[in-house]
Amino acid sequence: MPQKKVGILTAGGDCPGLNAAIRGFGKAAIREHGMELIGFQDGVRGLAEGRHIPLDGRALSGILTVGGTILGTSRDKVDRMVVDGETRDMVPTIVENYERLELDALVTLGGGGTARNAYKLAKAGLNVVHLPKTIDNDIVGTDDSFGFSTALEIATEAIDRLHSTAHSHHRIILAEIMGHRAGWLALGSGIAGGADIILLPEVPYQLDAIVNAVERRRKEGLNFSVIAVAEGARNQTDAMALAGAQALSDEASSPATKAAAKKAKQDLERSMRDNTLKLATQLEDATGLESRVTILGYVQRGGTPCAHDRLLATRLGAKGAQLVDDGEFGIMVAAQGTETGTVPLKEVGGKVKYVPLDHPWVDAARAVGTSLGDV
Ligand code: F6P
Repeated sequence: MPQKKVGILTAGGDCPGLNAAIRGFGKAAIREHGMELIGFQDGVRGLAEGRHIPLDGRALSGILTVGGTILGTSRDKVDRMVVDGETRDMVPTIVENYERLELDALVTLGGGGTARNAYKLAKAGLNVVHLPKTIDNDIVGTDDSFGFSTALEIATEAIDRLHSTAHSHHRIILAEIMGHRAGWLALGSGIAGGADIILLPEVPYQLDAIVNAVERRRKEGLNFSVIAVAEGARNQTDAMALAGAQALSDEASSPATKAAAKKAKQDLERSMRDNTLKLATQLEDATGLESRVTILGYVQRGGTPCAHDRLLATRLGAKGAQLVDDGEFGIMVAAQGTETGTVPLKEVGGKVKYVPLDHPWVDAARAVGTSLGDV
């Protein structure tokens, strides 16, 4: 059997565990299955531009604990990539590059957006296997994605530390935690860090409900509160406005009206970027307690992966190499309980795994008296 040649890339936002997954896939591919591996630089952009580097055993050594991605990343779309100021469909160019390089398979590491790219390339005839990464944990079909656990540790530690200063100064401290669409990170770190109030994109909040929760604590002699706020959490009015803008974009019949509706939604979202800061002011006015904001931001995506993410990335990567060897393509490798399974890319691309309102984490938060900002 001729040696199989495989290309690998990382796309979307970076996160801890990407290098562990490149290593997990690569070592298994080279050692177990005798494959040749190359890495495309800067996500699908490098794939379209044919920029790649060889990944041999030496290149894969020593990267398990390294944060970010040794390959670089980008947030491009394969069918709508801006090249020389023009938006172009790069799928045909990518297919050409894949054939010219005589690749047998392409492995993509990314979230739901990258899975959508991967699915488009699979439909164009490429043999694609996808590995799930994101700190947001919002990829459908998999229990877990590498990056999430590390970010959860970082956000939890931040909430722990904010507690002592909130307590000392009798303040409300709002910790803004990543997660535009799904609130897994804010919910998980909020519960683990003992936040008093947790605000999620899935649960539009009411200012009154948050004020009541703060006042209730005050009556109990607790004149401080820590609030974990997902970056996509919105009050009920703003959430309805966003849902309306989304509906207009979904229903638009012509490309021109769709583009206009999309732009209107983006503008609306941009106008809400400082939501956590505004909420802090509203809470200060309503309660008389000084309020402060800590935006955790990109710290949550940086640095070395925790042990759980290293394990997950290695397990999913090694399974990916096995699947390439078996010739199973058009799939994402998924953590399914103790099993490592697969899900068709069609079922993953562009979808979002939201926090279900009856999820055990939601029940547990409510059971211990944490307010979710709803009534
Ligand atoms: O990769 C996921 C994520 O970190 C989200 O939590 C966050 O909303 C977004 O990426 C930030 O995107 P960017 O890196 O493009 O600023």
